[in-house]
Amino acid sequence: MSSLVDSFGRKHTYLRISVTDKCNLRCFYCIPHDGIVWKRREELLDFDELTRVARIFAALGIDKIRLTGGEPMMRKDLVKLIAMLSPIPGLRTLAMTTNATLLKENARLLKQNGIKQLNISIDSLRRDRFQQLTGRDEHQSVLDGIKAAIDAEFETLKLNVVTIAGVNEDEILDFVHFIKDESINVRFIEFMPFRNNNWQIDRVVTYKELLEKIAGEFELTPIDTEPSAVAKDFAIKGHRGTVSFITSMSDSFCSTCNRIRLTADGSVKSCLFYPPEINLRDRMRAGASDAEIVEMIKYSLALKPEAHPPAEEIAALENRAMIEIGG
Ligand code: GTP
Ligand code: 5AD
Ligand code: SF4
Repeated sequence: MSSLVDSFGRKHTYLRISVTDKCNLRCFYCIPHDGIVWKRREELLDFDELTRVARIFAALGIDKIRLTGGEPMMRKDLVKLIAMLSPIPGLRTLAMTTNATLLKENARLLKQNGIKQLNISIDSLRRDRFQQLTGRDEHQSVLDGIKAAIDAEFETLKLNVVTIAGVNEDEILDFVHFIKDESINVRFIEFMPFRNNNWQIDRVVTYKELLEKIAGEFELTPIDTEPSAVAKDFAIKGHRGTVSFITSMSDSFCSTCNRIRLTADGSVKSCLFYPPEINLRDRMRAGASDAEIVEMIKYSLALKPEAHPPAEEIAALENRAMIEIGG
């Protein structure tokens, strides 16, 4: 039972840990167009510090941890960290979100060391467009990575497609075809605003528009999901794969939020769109006890807002960039 309850009665059981702010891609919606200042190595929590914080969170009722980035595989010796985290008592699910560029060589190792659920970001099935979107010609490595992930047989495998008007919305049906014979869940994500990430309201393709388009060609049946899930899921007649929609903009899911975040430099972030953070790293390095860390985590949660502000306000927040938060 989680003792991480915020001021609105929401129980927190899911911790997202960003293990690095570095990435080998340059997706325009994730990195601010005026750039960011990369963290130095000594600014990041080391593996012992990360494991200590994860243990403290697990003792408070966190049963799922997702590793994010930047790109988590840019962190040196990531597999070693995974092996340190996976035996933590109380932790039922260790998951990761990756761009899959380095997955071909690593998928099996990730699985063997404890990653159970894997989410892969891929916004285009076309090589030239992928390069335009990400600034790198890595499309084939990502496809190879997806293949390796299928072969490694994770408990769940999901593809994240950030859907942006005028960029990739013409590929929706191609993605649905792509997962016909694989037990993969493809998720279309509404484009979210972050500082200087080229967001505009008319670039958001809403869940309703997507659903209509897909239902024109495929027979969809809603699938029941857990209340805290961020996605609305559908089975597709004749398909092994399923399709989902993450509706952060048109139908937000804050009232059932169970997520809390830890940044790579050791700050607790209670909400994706709430800028104030509580830094654990400096207090830990000054000798803080576990009880003091618990107090700081609970303090951060007590400040968590009931819901995120309207989209136009989010775009103007002095929040961290997405690449530093990890989603
Ligand atoms: P599952 O555990 O498989 O449900 O994954 P997830 O959706 O929690 O994680 P993932 O890293 O794959 O993120 C998918 C999308 O959901 C990204 O665009 C995230 O930014 C977004 N997302 C994840 N958590 C939250 C959240 O708490 N609030 C909002 N608004 N978006 C979120
Ligand atoms: N809006 C929606 N999703 C985003 N992601 C990154 N930036 C945005 C954004 N502005 C997604 C990535 C990745 C996940 C962690 O967050 O595509 O799959
Ligand atoms: Fe939770 Fe904040 Fe995301 Fe809403 S925006 S679902 S409160 S993290």
